[in-house]
Amino acid sequence: MLARVGVLDGKRAIVTGAASGIGRASAALFAREGAQVVAVDIEKAALEANVAEIERAGGVACAHAADVAEEDAMRSVVERCVDRFGGVDVLFANAGTSGARLDLLQARFPILELEAKDWRAVLNVNLIGAFLGIKHAAPVMIEQGGGSIICTASVAGLRANAGPAPYSASKAGVVSLVQTAAWQLSGTGVRVNAICPGLIETGMTRPIFDLARARGSEGRIGQLNPLRRAGQPEEIAQAALFLAGDASSYLNGQAIAVDGGLSSGHPTTLPRA
Ligand SMILES: NC(=O)c1ccc[n+]([C@@H]2O[C@H](COP(=O)([O-])OP(=O)(O)OC[C@H]3O[C@@H](n4cnc5c(N)ncnc54)[C@H](O)[C@@H]3O)[C@@H](O)[C@H]2O)c1
Repeated sequence: MLARVGVLDGKRAIVTGAASGIGRASAALFAREGAQVVAVDIEKAALEANVAEIERAGGVACAHAADVAEEDAMRSVVERCVDRFGGVDVLFANAGTSGARLDLLQARFPILELEAKDWRAVLNVNLIGAFLGIKHAAPVMIEQGGGSIICTASVAGLRANAGPAPYSASKAGVVSLVQTAAWQLSGTGVRVNAICPGLIETGMTRPIFDLARARGSEGRIGQLNPLRRAGQPEEIAQAALFLAGDASSYLNGQAIAVDGGLSSGHPTTLPRA
């Protein structure tokens, strides 16, 4: 019988936001496909439980509790991957926060109610966290002769109406960051791309799903995209796997929407299914 070859066999990967949602699914998939994974999150207990699950399934992973917005913490994440697994081939900078203030959901002009601290809290994690990951992982990759960096942006970073102002601006910043980083890492073999998920059922969006279920309107979730459903974390993990692996070796500097087609059209009214 032939031994199964994993897409990421021999690769060392860091996945941030691995305690929940997209990061959790990606850490598990990367490990299933042969990567040695440093799973990172600020939520230590959930992170450790997920790593234990990966190990029970036969994967290789370690849990590293860290705040991605802190430079020393991100430096130590990269050092952990090098110490434990001997290098870094993949960084999935995925940790994020919506920063949604529930008290503003009913406001007519919520942007006028926001304070600078609301912005800083979101930018620190979503944008500066991604930057710190690139800053500390890329030198190791350059030394090795290459690597793949993937950042989670969002459809909210492409156009308005998919998130609060600080969140959307932070994700637009991530799209810009990967474009600039791809160019500034020219000639190094390090690729930098972003994934822009649409509406995915995760910890971040659970309140939306819970509210819709409570109102009996869950059938309306995801109806704005041509697939007419929300996505699952595993569907984003599959896109991250492609970007992490050598199959995407000529893909660089791009922001790829994985959103059921949502961002491919202008708003329209479709005939009822
Ligand atoms: N769920 C969606 O619909 C959706 C859509 C577009 C983009 N995204 C993005 O996907 C990424 C993953 O989010 P998710 O949907 O899986 O949500 P999630 O809440 O399930 O997971 C996010 C994880 O990031 C961790 N995290 C938050 N701040 C952190 C910090 N400072 N340091 C370390 N870890 C931190 C959280 O603890 C959590 O485990 C985020 O960047 C999010 O903005 C999500």
